[in-house]
Amino acid sequence: MEQYKSRVEALLLQSARKKETPQRLGEAMMYSLEAGGKRVRPLLLYAVLDCFRTAPEKGDAAACSLEMIHTYSLIHDDLPAMDDDDLRRGKPTSHRRFDEATAILAGDALLTRAFQLAADDRENSDEKKIRLLQLLTAASGAEGMVGGQMEDMQAEEQTEITSSELAAIHDHKTGDLLAVALQMGGVLSDCTEIEQSQLDRYGRCIGLAFQVKDDLLDVEGDEAEIGKPVGSDETNNKHTYVRLMGIEGAREFLDQLLRDALDALGHIDADTEILSDLARYIAQRTA
Ligand code: IPE
Ligand code: IPE
Ligand code: MG
Ligand code: MG
Ligand code: MG
Repeated sequence: MEQYKSRVEALLLQSARKKETPQRLGEAMMYSLEAGGKRVRPLLLYAVLDCFRTAPEKGDAAACSLEMIHTYSLIHDDLPAMDDDDLRRGKPTSHRRFDEATAILAGDALLTRAFQLAADDRENSDEKKIRLLQLLTAASGAEGMVGGQMEDMQAEEQTEITSSELAAIHDHKTGDLLAVALQMGGVLSDCTEIEQSQLDRYGRCIGLAFQVKDDLLDVEGDEAEIGKPVGSDETNNKHTYVRLMGIEGAREFLDQLLRDALDALGHIDADTEILSDLARYIAQRTA
C-alpha cells in the first residue's frame, strides 16, 4: 500500500499543473494536493487491480482523477459558505492560506483536470475510458458526491432526521466516490458480474463506514492527528451517526459494516488480503 501511495503522489505532482497554469492557481492546486491525505480512494482502486493481477499502469489516470476530485471536494467543503473550517490535512485551509476566490478556482481547476486526465489516458481503450468516465461523473456529480453535500447542507436546518435519510446523505457525500474507486478497478480488471456485485457490496459498506468513522473522529479524534478541527459537526449543527445513535451506537454500527464488508470479500475467488486490510484500516483508523 505504501508503494501505491507513493505512486499516486508522484503522478499527482506531475499531472496537476501545466506551464500555462496561472502561477497563483497552480500554487493553490499543488498546496492542497501536496498537503498529504490518506489517498484512500486511489488505494482502493490499486487494491482491486492487485487482487486481479491487473497492471497498475492501467489504473494510474483513474487513481489521479479520483484523488483530484476528492481534494477539490475538501477545498470547497471547508469554505466559509459550507463548513467554514480553518484546518485541513494539518495545514490552513485553502481559503485561509490564499483567499476565497483562489480556493474556489483551485477546486474548479482540480475537478476539470481530473476529467482531462481520464480522457487523455493512453493505457486503456476508448471503450473502457468512456465507461470509466460515466462511472466517475455519476459518482461525483449532482446524483453523487455533490448531491450528498447539498443534502448535508440542507439537513442542517432540520431538527429531526431518520436513519435512512442520514444513510442516504452519507452514502452520497462520501460513499459514492469510495464505491466508484472499486467499480472502476473492476472495469479495469474485466471482473465478472458476480465479482463486481461483491465489490459493490464491499464498496457500499466501507463507504458508509468511512463517514461513520469520520463522524466519530469529529467527536473523539485528536486534532493534531486528524489534521482538521474536532467539533466542526456540532458547531455546524450537522446530522451525524454520533448524533443519531450516540458514540456507542455509532461504534457498533461501524463494526457491523466492517463485518459485512469482509463477508462480501469472502465471496470473491481471488487474493483479497489488501482489500480486507483496507476495510479494517477504514474502520479502525485514528486519522
Ligand atoms: C475526508 O476525507 C472527507 C470525507 C469524505 C469524510 P478523507 O478522510 O479521505 O481525507 P484525506 O484525503 O485523508 O485528507
Ligand atoms: C465531507 O464530509 C464530505 C465531502 C464530500 C468533502 P465532512 O464535512 O464530514 O468532511 P470533513 O470532516 O470536513 O473532512
Ligand atoms: Mg461537510
Ligand atoms: Mg467538512
Ligand atoms: Mg467530517
